[in-house]
Amino acid sequence: MKPAIAIIARVGAHQAFEAAGLKPEKTEVYPTPYGDSRPVHWFRHGGLEFVVLSRHGEAGYDLSAPFLNPRANLYALKALGVEKILAWVAPGSLNETMAPGDLVAPHDVLDEGRGGPHTYYPGVGWGFIRNNPVFCPELRAALLQALAGAPFPVHDRAVYVATAGPRLETAAEIRKFRFLGGDLVGQTLAPEVFLARELEFCYVGLTYVVNYAEGLVERPYQPGVLFEGLATPEEAARVRAVEAAFPELVLRLLPALAATGRQCPCPRLMERYRLRGDIGADWRTWVR
Ligand code: HPA
Repeated sequence: MKPAIAIIARVGAHQAFEAAGLKPEKTEVYPTPYGDSRPVHWFRHGGLEFVVLSRHGEAGYDLSAPFLNPRANLYALKALGVEKILAWVAPGSLNETMAPGDLVAPHDVLDEGRGGPHTYYPGVGWGFIRNNPVFCPELRAALLQALAGAPFPVHDRAVYVATAGPRLETAAEIRKFRFLGGDLVGQTLAPEVFLARELEFCYVGLTYVVNYAEGLVERPYQPGVLFEGLATPEEAARVRAVEAAFPELVLRLLPALAATGRQCPCPRLMERYRLRGDIGADWRTWVR
């Protein structure tokens, strides 16, 4: 059976679902033309099958953002018949109203990183895909509706600035991103969202703020602690509370996300190339 949705999360997400009482049905690493996918964990809940993949590591933060392999992960998910993706990411905030521990569903992306392979279609004339809206509008609407009543502040719009990483930004870079209209800064949503669109996934991002970005608030430099002191212990505690709620939060969203009917543009993002006869029915023959 096709999974109803894939959750691409950060570190050890499968363990969080197991701790919430779910038993994984299976775990598999899928070989792809781009290398192996991260392990894909299959779960079932309330009659829905879903898969979970952790970008950065199974137990610890083993792989920093520029060394992720979103092409392999998305290829594997596509091969499993996945059509929808919820991307769970943890950015910094450029916006004083978006505090550590808040949930934010970005509506737009400013790609300031452009790291790593960012297309499935090098060397051909395909992939000139419109990116407004950049996240699936149907999945985003369902997500926001299902988030109503969540035990955390929820922000329904934000511009996510993507940087290459792994380093954090200078204070001047953060001033620039704020000037450009950014609300969040992180290292993972791009190129992932753009690659997902090339494979016609419905893709939506749900973020939780983990720190105020550099220079937004006055914080002494503290070697040896998380973000070198960019986040206070109180903020870190709020972040841990969201992380602890992650599996329950996803399970609460699952029925709404599974129910969207894909009347959005996402299943036809490559339609122009189909109509032109450049690509056929089998997406495996599209990618390079
Ligand atoms: N900058 C970039 N990426 C991040 C940050 C940040 O402040 N916090 C979490 N990921």
